[in-house]
Amino acid sequence: MLRRLHKEQPASFAFTPANLAWAEGQIAKYPEGRQASAIIPLLWRAQEQEGWLTRPAIEHVADKLGMAYIRALEVATFYFMFQLQPVGSVAHIQICGTTSCMICGAEELIAVCKELVADKAHALSADGKFSWEEVECLGACTNAPMAQIGKDYYEDLTADKLRALIGRFSKGEVPVPGPQNGRYSSEPLSGLTSLKAHEAGRKHYNASVQNAVDIGDTVKRIDGTEVPLLTPWIPKVVKSDPKLAAMPEAVTPAVGVAVEPKPGAAAVADKTGVTVQEAPVMPVGKPEASAAAKPTKAAPKAKLEAAAVASEGGTQPKALKAARKGVADDLQKIEGIGPVLEKLCHGLGIFHFDQIASFGPAEIAWMDGNLKGFKGRVSRDKWVAQAKLIGEIGLDAFLIRAKTNDY
Ligand code: FES
Repeated sequence: MLRRLHKEQPASFAFTPANLAWAEGQIAKYPEGRQASAIIPLLWRAQEQEGWLTRPAIEHVADKLGMAYIRALEVATFYFMFQLQPVGSVAHIQICGTTSCMICGAEELIAVCKELVADKAHALSADGKFSWEEVECLGACTNAPMAQIGKDYYEDLTADKLRALIGRFSKGEVPVPGPQNGRYSSEPLSGLTSLKAHEAGRKHYNASVQNAVDIGDTVKRIDGTEVPLLTPWIPKVVKSDPKLAAMPEAVTPAVGVAVEPKPGAAAVADKTGVTVQEAPVMPVGKPEASAAAKPTKAAPKAKLEAAAVASEGGTQPKALKAARKGVADDLQKIEGIGPVLEKLCHGLGIFHFDQIASFGPAEIAWMDGNLKGFKGRVSRDKWVAQAKLIGEIGLDAFLIRAKTNDY
């Protein structure tokens, strides 16, 4: 495939202050003289910010890394993850057309793209919302045929399913990625025949989908303030952006904040390559307590107040300063709550299922408006219905029902 720069280019490019801080964190990972190794993450973040990779962006990144423009161009034009022309304002759809996907129906998916988006690959749809292309194997062959839409994989597709997905994206929804035929990951469609012990206690979604749902940036432009960015390798806070300066740290950790890992906590990399800290793992105790509870720190009063100031309508739910008896419920048992959202909930004084179950419309509106980077998640993922069900039938029964979204 011929990959060259688009004939129309903007005059300039600059990272947003938050993305600049993130980029500097990436560069700081490498020893002096090896900064060019940060080329791919920086080009990717430029694309996340703008939607596609412009010539000024490529040159800006090259300047930042002390590279000749041609070296940066070689990288940008080699990998088809980089879009060298404008893409749909909502999503760019990449259909895998390699062997497994082709055998299982990729050509039908391409026909849907031609019908609903544009007759030619890389052309914009009439409303400018979508574009598409055929790509080589994306490494999800056991879930063929599949497509990458934005940043996430939609697997086990059929023409009708892809048509429905595009319709939902068009309406502003972001459908949950992963297998679209009811499979958890890549097990047989009829279910596991062995290693069944792994089914108990697993999360609602497989790890990849759960990560996508937790981060929630599938088709979003990234200006750097949406995802909690912890860059412990940068010693100083960069807060030149007034939006960042006004942001309460209890709600969204500031970019570039030096974070000391807490004892017993595991550091994990999110899919942007950023390291985030997970809550310490509780030793297994009584079944009730071990399934649903984990120790937490108190939510400092100042943080609760800062969160309250950030209110954007609705009524703040009754917040606790700390989990009752120092042990919070495992909020991650609720579909849609991952480690980052659980941490945000704790920062807002929410530690228990019954607190969530008591939310009325005003409290839901407040939470939806105050979960920075995750707006609308309380209502979209039906937290209240799930928490109520946990209260009614108990956590174990809920986890069985949750597998089929029966709440
Ligand atoms: S052949 Fe399509 S993901 Fe590998």
